[in-house]
Amino acid sequence: MADRKKLVIGLFGFGTVGKALYNLLETTRPDGVRIKRICVRDISKNRGIEADFTDNYDSIFNDPEINLIVELVDDARASYAIITRALREGMSAVSGNKKMLAEHLPELIEMQKQTGSTLLYDASACGSIPVIRNLEEYYDNELLVSVKGILNGSSNYILTKIFNHGMTYEAALREAQEAGFAESDPSLDVDGWDSLSKLIIITVHAFGTYIAPENIFTFGISNLRDYDIRFAREKGRRIKLVGHVEKLADGRLVACVIPQLLSKNKYIYGVDDEFNGVVIKGLYYDKQFMFGRGAGGFPTGSAILSDITACQYDYKYEYKKRLTHLNDLPEFTNDVHFRVFFRYRNPEDLNLIEFDSISEKYSSADFNYVVGHTSLADLHRVAALMRDRDVFIAAYPPD
Ligand code: HSE
Repeated sequence: MADRKKLVIGLFGFGTVGKALYNLLETTRPDGVRIKRICVRDISKNRGIEADFTDNYDSIFNDPEINLIVELVDDARASYAIITRALREGMSAVSGNKKMLAEHLPELIEMQKQTGSTLLYDASACGSIPVIRNLEEYYDNELLVSVKGILNGSSNYILTKIFNHGMTYEAALREAQEAGFAESDPSLDVDGWDSLSKLIIITVHAFGTYIAPENIFTFGISNLRDYDIRFAREKGRRIKLVGHVEKLADGRLVACVIPQLLSKNKYIYGVDDEFNGVVIKGLYYDKQFMFGRGAGGFPTGSAILSDITACQYDYKYEYKKRLTHLNDLPEFTNDVHFRVFFRYRNPEDLNLIEFDSISEKYSSADFNYVVGHTSLADLHRVAALMRDRDVFIAAYPPD
């Protein structure tokens, strides 16, 4: 067995996950791993622990003993500066910043190739569920058909509290924030952006293709109203916010983040609270389901710890699916049609979407809805308009 490398960590960020990681290391004391210095924005704050805090990046990068950068900062721009500097300087790095990764993955992959340095980020998608490493190591590109799941803990927590406990949206969001699941800007959770970042990362490891965020239809749950919940209940379904990437029969990839009206027979129907659930579908093995805590300090901290330990054995993502097929990666398309539920208040808003066909229509003084088929390309075209109006859309797949 390979020897465990000694790792001396320079940690950036001491928020929910940083603190949890610190405590995990104090409790588990893994062989050959220690945090030497912690870089934070405000060093005057009393954090109640005896540790070497600094607000100076250089005091970490210029310390010859530090050989691993662990970056757990909230701000994607700061995260990018830290990670690119680490890679340029030939250091290994672990990151949890999904937004930064989703925006810069192709460049970060290239940098790792050029510099030989390592970047691991399993914690960035689905917290404690080891989805990236499994996609990377186990699932073969040719057989993989789709990856679909609940990728954001906070919005799932909110939906569960609304559906199962009759709580209001606002109260549920407050609880998710207090529990440390939500992003510091919770619109990233409830408007689907956090799920989008995770979906982009997952897609690179599942199929090799990088899809830029602006190309993927993304709609969250912040426009959800009682009418939508009532409709779901009447149909015996629950609403979940789902990230989905699928390889079509013609080899092209389709991806989106959209609320879905799910029937009881779907694996992710029963994924509640801040849990995440990912369904991986293959051509021959059919469906496999991974379930676990997707948010919160300790679940995410333990995934970071797992990346740190992987660095001790010089583990790297090989990006086989991307790098060996760089010239013939599956193309991305929004050219698919599917059934949706569309609820709107202002009758004119029905014109936002071009429906191929409508199978159900309801009108009242308070609200209106239709069920019909439309295209993802059309939805993508009007996504920003829909977000600003009192409308809600959900995919409504067959049973
Ligand atoms: N805000 C994120 C979530 C944290 O709720 O899933 C974990 O990525």
